[in-house]
Amino acid sequence: MALTAELGRQTQLKEVAGNPLEPATGDNWSQIQSFQAKPDDLLICTYPKSGTTWIQEIVDMIEQEGDVEKCRRSIIQHRHPFIEWARPPQPSGVDKANAMPSPRTLRTHLPTQLLPPSFWDKNCKFLYVARNAKDCVVSYYHFQKMNQMLPDPGTWEEFVETFINGKVSWGSWFDHVKGWWEIKDRYQILFLFYEDIKRDPKNEIRKVMQFMGKNLDEPVLDKIVQETSFEKMKENPMTNRSTVPKSILDQSISPFMRKGTVGDWKNHFTVAQNERFNEIYRKKMEGTSINFCMEL
Ligand code: A3P
Repeated sequence: MALTAELGRQTQLKEVAGNPLEPATGDNWSQIQSFQAKPDDLLICTYPKSGTTWIQEIVDMIEQEGDVEKCRRSIIQHRHPFIEWARPPQPSGVDKANAMPSPRTLRTHLPTQLLPPSFWDKNCKFLYVARNAKDCVVSYYHFQKMNQMLPDPGTWEEFVETFINGKVSWGSWFDHVKGWWEIKDRYQILFLFYEDIKRDPKNEIRKVMQFMGKNLDEPVLDKIVQETSFEKMKENPMTNRSTVPKSILDQSISPFMRKGTVGDWKNHFTVAQNERFNEIYRKKMEGTSINFCMEL
C-alpha cells in the first residue's frame, strides 16, 4: 500500500470484486464473507455519508425507549458493529458482532453483491437509508479531506469525477442505491430517504419503530425527534466523533457533523458541473423507479 509520508494517508484502495474498499477490509475479506448472521439481526445499510450516524442514533433511541442516558453508554461507532471494519490490532467488526448478545443491530456500507450471504439466508431485517447523490458527494468530499485514513480527495472538481467513476471507498453511489432499491420488495427491507427524515422526522422515526416491532408513546417519539436533531447530535460527544484523535479525523478541517442539510450541493456545483452531473445521472439511473428529492 502506498503511503504519503507527511500525512500517513493511504493513497490506494483495494478492489474486491471490482469494488474499491479500504485495504484492511480487503485483507480481511474471507472473515467478512463467512460472517454468520442470525435471524433476529437488524442491519443498518447505507452508502457512506448518507446519514448512517443519524439512523444509528434513531435506532438506538428506539431500542432504549427514549432513555438518553442509556444511549450515552458508549460512542456511536461502538454501539453497532461495523461488519466490514478491519483495523488490526483492534478487533474487527466481525469479532465485535460475534461477541455481541442478540438481538443485534449491526451496520454496513457494503453494496448488495458484497454482503455476507448469510444475511440473505437468515432473512434478516435491513434498514436502508439513501441520500441524494449531489449532497452525498459534497459530504463525502469534506469527509475525505478531514479523514486522514482515506485517500486525499484532491480538488472538488477531481473528486466529483472520482465519485462519478465509483473510485471512492465502497464504490459507486449509483450501483449501491440501485442495488438496494431493486431488491427492497424481495427481503425485509425498510428503505428510507435522508431527505424524508429531514422533512418529517417523526413520521420516518415512527416507520422505523414499527419496522423494529416496537410501540412507543407519542411523548417518547417527540423526545426521540428532539434528541436526534442535527443540533443535539452535533453537541453530543457520543455522536459527534469528538473523541476520535485528530490524527484520524481532523475536525479543524471540517467537522464530522458538518451541515446536516438538504441542498448544500447548490453551494458547491457550478452550473456547468451540475448540467454534466445531471446528464451522467440520467444515464446511470435509467430504468430505475427511485426518485430523490434534491432540495426541501
Ligand atoms: P453533511 O456532511 O452534509 O453535514 P454518515 O453518518 O453516513 O457519515 O453521514 C454524515 C452526514 O450526515 C453528514 O452530512 C452529517 O452532518 C449528517 N448528519 C448526521 N447526523 C445528522 C442529523 N441528526 N441530522 C441531519 N444530518 C445529520
